[in-house]
Amino acid sequence: MRITLLATCALLLGAPAAAAPSAPAAAHQVQSDKLWFGSAWYPEQWPEERWPRDLALMKAQGANVVRIGEFAWSRMEPAEGQYDLDWLVRAVRLAARYDIKVVIGTPTDTPPAWLTTRYPDTLRVDSDGKPAIHGGRRQFSISSPRYRDLSRRVVAAMAAKLGREPNVVGWQIGNEYTDESYDPAARAAWHRWLAAKYKTLDALNDAWTTSYWSQTYSAWDQVPYSSVAGNPGWMIDQKRFITDTWVDFQKVQVDALRAGVAPHMFITTNLGGLGWANRFDRYAINRDLDLASWDNYVGTGHLEPYRNGATHDLARGWKRRNFWVMEAQPGFVNWAGVSNMLDRGESRAMAWHMVGHGADALLYWQWRSAPNGQEQYHGALVGADGEPIPFYTEAQEIGRDFAKASAALAGTEPVSQVAILQDYDSRWAIDFQLHNREYDQIKVLLDTYRPLKDRLGAVDIVSAAGPLDRYRLVFAPSLNMIPAALGRHLAAYVRAGGHLVLGPRSGMKDEYNRLDPHRQPGPLTEMLGGRVEQFYALDETVPVGGGTASIWAEQLATRAPDATVPLRYGKANGWIDGQPAAVSRPYGKGRITYLGALLDPASMDRFVAARMAEAAVTPDFAVPAGVERMIRTGKGRTVTILVNHGRTPQPVTLPMAMRDVLNGGSVSALTLPARGVAVLDR
Ligand code: GAL
Repeated sequence: MRITLLATCALLLGAPAAAAPSAPAAAHQVQSDKLWFGSAWYPEQWPEERWPRDLALMKAQGANVVRIGEFAWSRMEPAEGQYDLDWLVRAVRLAARYDIKVVIGTPTDTPPAWLTTRYPDTLRVDSDGKPAIHGGRRQFSISSPRYRDLSRRVVAAMAAKLGREPNVVGWQIGNEYTDESYDPAARAAWHRWLAAKYKTLDALNDAWTTSYWSQTYSAWDQVPYSSVAGNPGWMIDQKRFITDTWVDFQKVQVDALRAGVAPHMFITTNLGGLGWANRFDRYAINRDLDLASWDNYVGTGHLEPYRNGATHDLARGWKRRNFWVMEAQPGFVNWAGVSNMLDRGESRAMAWHMVGHGADALLYWQWRSAPNGQEQYHGALVGADGEPIPFYTEAQEIGRDFAKASAALAGTEPVSQVAILQDYDSRWAIDFQLHNREYDQIKVLLDTYRPLKDRLGAVDIVSAAGPLDRYRLVFAPSLNMIPAALGRHLAAYVRAGGHLVLGPRSGMKDEYNRLDPHRQPGPLTEMLGGRVEQFYALDETVPVGGGTASIWAEQLATRAPDATVPLRYGKANGWIDGQPAAVSRPYGKGRITYLGALLDPASMDRFVAARMAEAAVTPDFAVPAGVERMIRTGKGRTVTILVNHGRTPQPVTLPMAMRDVLNGGSVSALTLPARGVAVLDR
C-alpha cells in the first residue's frame, strides 16, 4: 500500500497541477520516499543568467533538492502589497529542468526595511525594552498582530503563486525560531494568557505561592513579563506562554499554506540552536507541522558522534518519525570560535551518521557565499568565482552514495526497544535552579545514552507524555517535573510490563513547579516503595557501588518489603554513608528503578547493562570502539549503516552475510578505513 502511494506521489510530482489526483500521498511520505541531497541557494543574490550554471553544478554534485526563498522578503514584496514572485516561479521551473525539487522558505525571518520603518510596532523588543534594528535578522516581534498579518499576506501570495507548482515538494516556515519579544503586545497577550489559564488571581497566587516575598498580585497587569530570574512558577509559565506564542505565530503561516498549497507538499520549519535549545517546547512547535527538520552544525572541532547522534534522535522524537537535516556545514562555518574545516572524509561520515539516525535529507548551507553580507567567510560548495571548491568533490561522493542507497533506505527508520525521555518542563525547571552549576542535563542524558548506543543500533529520545508501550525499557534521566497525570501515564506503562528507570532529580516538582509533598519521585513514590530522603550537590566525588558519583547524589530509603537496593554509597559526607543510591521494585508486570546519583562512566555502563538484561533487551551485534552501528528497518528490510568515526582502520565482523549497497557484492566481514562507511542490506 505504501509503495503504491509513494509511486502515486512520484507521478504527482512530475505531473502538471491540473492532473493532481483526488487522494494524493500524505506530505510526510514525500519526505521519506528517497534520500534527498542539496543545499540552500539564494537566486535573488545573483543575475538570472547565472542560475543555469548553478543548477547544472548542483546536478553534477548529485543534488535532487534545493531550498530557496527564506530571506528574500524585500525581493518578493518590494513595496507593501506589491508582490513580485515571478522570479521564484522561474527559479522553481528552471530547477525542474535539472530534476531538482524545491523547498520554499517563507521569508518572515527578515522583514524588509520599508515594513519595520512604517510599522515600528512590529520590531522585536528585548527584555530590557530595547527595540531591534534593521540590518540583521530576527528583528520582528512574534507577538505583533500586525507582523503576523503582514506575514500571512506574503505567505498567502506565495502559496497562490507557487502552491501548485509540481516541482515544489515542501515549505519551510521562517528560519530557526529564536527570540521572543517583550513589546506591549506581548505583555498584553501574556496577561490574557494568564487570565485564561488561571481564571482567578487567587488561583494564580496559590499556584505560584506569591505569599513568598510579598509577590501577591491583585490585577493581571501587575504580573511582570521579563527574562530575568524570579519565582519558578512564574518562570515556567512564561516558557509555556512563549511556546504558545511561537505556535500561534507559526499557525498563521501554516493556515495560509494549508489553504493554498497542494496537500502532498510538506510544511516544516528548520529548528536551530544545535538541536537541544529550550527557549520553547519543540514538541509543541512540531505538532502542526508535517515533518521535523533541524540544522546540524559542528562549529569548532569535529563531529561528536554520541552527542550529535543523540541530537538526531531528539529531532526524530519531535514527531516520532524520520526527519530532515535542513542545513549542515559544507566543511566549516563562519561563526565558531575556531571555524575549522572538517577533515577530508569527515563530512561523508557525518552524512551517513545523519542517515543512520533517521535523516532522509541533507542540505548544505549554503551553495555559494553572497559577495557581501555577514556570512562571507562561511563554507560553501562553489567559490567566489562560482566554480567548485575542494569540498565539492566530497559532496559529489556523498551524492553518488545516496543515489546507490536511496532505494534500499526508502521507507526505513531507526526502531528501538529503548527510549530516553526528554521533557521541556523538566529541563526548564532544573535550568532555573541548577543547585550545582555542573549539572548539565544534556550531559546527564548522554551519560545514559552512551552505554545504550554502544549496544544498540537505535535508541529513541521522546517526550514523556507520548505513548511508551512499544518500549521494553525507558530511562528518564532528569524528569524533574512529574504532574499527577504524567505519574499515572508512567505507572500505567510499568503496570503493563514496562521497565522505567528514573534518574536523579526526578519527580521533585508538580505542574506549577512547586515542590511535590510526596518528596521524590512525587506521584511515583508509592509505586517505587521508596523515596528520596535528601538530595546533595556534591563538591567532590563519593564512592558508590564499585565506582564513584560526582555532581549529584540523593540519599534514598526503601519503604516496601519487596523494594531492593541495587547500589549503595560508600563512606562519604556522613549523611549518605552506606545509604541506598538506587532503589528498584517489581510492579504489575514491569519494574521501576530509581537511581539517585550521577555515576562515573564505567559504573553507568554496568548499571545500564543490568537494566537492559532485566528488561530482556538484547544487544545488537558488537562493533569495535569508535565504530558506530546504526540500523534502519521498514518495508521488510533491515539496513545497517556502519561509520568508523576514528582516524585508524577498524575490522568489523557481521552476524551474517549482507549485501554491500555502496560497493556491490556480499560481505560477512570488512575493514572500515578511517572515517569509512558501509551500508549493508540483509
Ligand atoms: C544557520 C542559519 C543559516 C546560516 C547558518 C550559518 O543557523 O539558519 O541561515 O546563517 O546558520 O552557519
